Amino acid sequence: MAGTIVVTGATGTVGSEVVQLLHAARHPVRAAATDPEAARARLGAGVATVEFAFDRPETHGDALHGARALFLMRPPQMADAKAFLPTIEAARAAGVEQIAFLSLQGVERNAVVPHHRIEKLVRESGIAWTFLRPSFFMQNLSGVHRDEICRQNRVFVPAGRGRTAFVDARDVAAVAAKILTESGHERQAYELTGSEALGYAEVAGILSEVLGRAIRYDRASALGFWLATRRAGQPAGFATVMTALYTVARLGLAAHLTDTTRELLGREPIAFRQFARDHADVWQPAPASTRFEVDDASPPATVGPTPRAAR
Ligand SMILES: NC(=O)c1ccc[n+]([C@@H]2O[C@H](COP(=O)([O-])OP(=O)(O)OC[C@H]3O[C@@H](n4cnc5c(N)ncnc54)[C@H](OP(=O)(O)O)[C@@H]3O)[C@@H](O)[C@H]2O)c1
Repeated sequence: MAGTIVVTGATGTVGSEVVQLLHAARHPVRAAATDPEAARARLGAGVATVEFAFDRPETHGDALHGARALFLMRPPQMADAKAFLPTIEAARAAGVEQIAFLSLQGVERNAVVPHHRIEKLVRESGIAWTFLRPSFFMQNLSGVHRDEICRQNRVFVPAGRGRTAFVDARDVAAVAAKILTESGHERQAYELTGSEALGYAEVAGILSEVLGRAIRYDRASALGFWLATRRAGQPAGFATVMTALYTVARLGLAAHLTDTTRELLGREPIAFRQFARDHADVWQPAPASTRFEVDDASPPATVGPTPRAAR
């Protein structure tokens, strides 16, 4: 399928991989970023970048001009689904034929999360849609939880003994690149998981084996985690969403596995152990940094940038 694919969140965990995959396969791709220079530095000089911000409609026309397809994602800090309407309308005005939206596992049963309403807006746009509904990204361990692993040799989450159907964001990106470049995925919602649901004790065990040092799972209480996240300088909304996500896992509601990733990619999804091996460098013991860290014992020491589930 010919025609330019615009990728939002092009510097993010999933979007950056989508751009790289499309670019490597020589599909015309335009990386839409709030800072196109920074995006080019990250993605490579050969990648076309364009200025784009969901909350700056004046950037939408140029970003979407002549595009055939749009990879749409919701930045984690944007809670209001209506904020995506200008982009969806600009896509329709630009003649975009397909929107692939990065949604969330279980979204069809959960009207509280913004993704639920964004899916509805996309459906109502009349543009052909495909929804990717991934489970919890493995990359949360190398992003949001990186520093507590590096500096405290622990994973501190309120997930109890609940299992989580982790998925590698690289597999989510591979599915996105596929459905954006072949037909037959219109009006489909794909629930994407890896092939194993793991408890956090197992996650810590695998990290310990791969890193060659003991990483423990510290079971946080929901309140303890929320307070620690706030003490780490994070906004209340972020702390609440994180606590809610881990509570869902504690209740055993994040463990549902599907075969969809395997069926779409024609191979096994990336296993957590492989993910850990691939990212071993990011968890090396490190001096203090400004990244997000949850510390239930210490006063706030760092107020880092918005945390990412990115490497
Ligand atoms: N983490 C998980 O386990 C998980 C699981 C399932 C679904 N999801 C969903 O995946 C989405 C996050 O995807 P991700 O992890 O790939 O993203 P991410 O790594 O958190 O990156 C966020 C992206 O949003 C962009 N962004 C921020 N503010 C923007 C704005 N005002 N206008 C335009 N772009 C903006 C950033 O681009 P700039 O650098 O240009 O600012 C960046 O590329 C969320 O909706 C989340 O709910 C996450």
